[in-house]
Amino acid sequence: MIPKQPTPDLLGRPLADLRISVTDRCNFRCPYCMPRSQFGAGHAFLPRAELLTYEEIDRLAGIFAELGVRKFRLTGGEPLLRRDLPVLVALLAGHRDTDLALTTNGALLAGMAAPLAAAGLRRVTVSLDALDEAIFRRMSDAEVPVAAVLDGIDAARAAGLAPVKINAVVRRGWNESEILPLAARFRGSGSDLRFIEFMDVGTTNGWRRDEVVPAREILERIDARWPIEPVEPGYRGEVATRWRYRDGAGEIGVIGSVTAPFCGDCTRARLSAEGRLFTCLFAAVGSDLRGPLRAGESDAELAGRVARIWGARSDRYSEIRSGVRGTSRIEMSYIGG
Ligand code: GTP
Ligand code: 5AD
Ligand code: SF4
Ligand code: SF4
Repeated sequence: MIPKQPTPDLLGRPLADLRISVTDRCNFRCPYCMPRSQFGAGHAFLPRAELLTYEEIDRLAGIFAELGVRKFRLTGGEPLLRRDLPVLVALLAGHRDTDLALTTNGALLAGMAAPLAAAGLRRVTVSLDALDEAIFRRMSDAEVPVAAVLDGIDAARAAGLAPVKINAVVRRGWNESEILPLAARFRGSGSDLRFIEFMDVGTTNGWRRDEVVPAREILERIDARWPIEPVEPGYRGEVATRWRYRDGAGEIGVIGSVTAPFCGDCTRARLSAEGRLFTCLFAAVGSDLRGPLRAGESDAELAGRVARIWGARSDRYSEIRSGVRGTSRIEMSYIGG
C-alpha cells in the first residue's frame, strides 16, 4: 500500500479533510441554497445508479486516508435522506486515524442520532438559521417546525455526539434579527454556535453582496450584549474564527468566507455523491473517480490519480472572487458546502 504522507498542493496546502456528499436531495428548500424556483418538482436529481455505493465510498475514503486525510465529514444535500446511513458510518468508523462528523439540517436527527452514534459517528453540526417560527420557515422553505430541529440537537447531545455545533447562515433583511436570540439560546448550552456569511455558492441562489452581514458586524452585535474575546484556532485551516464569552458561557464562531477568506489554509477536498472530486467549493468541474474505480483501477492507481489532482491544485476562490464571478459553478446542494 502507499505510505501515509502529506500531499501538498501548488500553494503548499496539505490534503487533510474530505467532505463526502451522500445525496444531492434535501427535504428543505433554503432559498440561499436550493431555491424552489430552481429545485422544484421537475428538477433532475442524480439517479440512484449514479450514486457511489457505500462500499465504493469506503474504498475511496481509505485511499484518501492513506494520502493524509484525517477528517471525514458527511454532507448532502441532506445526508440523513440517504437510506441506511449508519451502515456507511460503520464502514467509515473503521478508519481508525480519522475523525468522523456529519452536517445536517436536523429535521430527521431526533430519530437518527442514537443509531448514528452507535455506528461510530463522533460529531454532528446542525444548521439552524432562526428560532422564530415564521423566520425559520422563510429561511428553510419547509414545513418543519423549529422544535423538530431543537429535538434533533438534544438527541445528538444525549447520544454523545458532542460538542454539537450549530450553523446559522445570516442574510441581511431575512434573519439578522435572530442573531441575538440564537446567541442567547445557545450560550451556556455546551453547543458552539457559528454564524456564517451568506456565500455566492453556485449560480441559482440570487446572491447579493448587500445581503451579506459581515462577520465583524455580527461579532460587534454580540459583544455589545455579552462581551467576547478571541480564542486560538482549534487546528490549522479551521473555517470558523472562534470567540469566547468573557462571562464563561462558552464559545461562538463566525465563518467569514466573503469578508475574511481562509483559502490560505484550505486543506479540504470534496467528493460528490456521484464520485467526482472537487478541489474547491466554487469549482466548475470535478474529476471523475467513479469511472476509474468501476473500471477496476487498483488502490495504488486511484491514489496516484488523487495525488496528481491535489498536486495540481491552486484554487483560492474566496480570496479572488471579484475576478472570477459569472463563470459556471457547482451548486451547494450538489457538493455539500
Ligand atoms: P468543523 O470545523 O469540523 O466544525 O467543520 P466545518 O465548519 O468545516 O463544516 P460545516 O459543514 O459546518 O461548514 C460550515 C460552513 O463553512 C458552511 O457554510 C460551509 O459551506 C463553509 N465551508 C466549509 N468549508 C469551506 C471552504 O473550504 N470554503 C468555503 N468558502 N466555505 C467553507
Ligand atoms: N452561504 C453560506 N452558507 C450556506 N450553507 C448553504 N448554502 C449557503 C450559502 N449560500 C450552509 C448550510 C449548512 C452548511 C453546510 O452550509 O446552512 O449549515
Ligand atoms: Fe438543504 Fe442544507 Fe441546502 Fe438548506 S442549506 S436546502 S438544509 S442542503
Ligand atoms: Fe478552499 Fe475554495 Fe473555500 Fe478557498 S474558496 S477556502 S480554496 S474551498
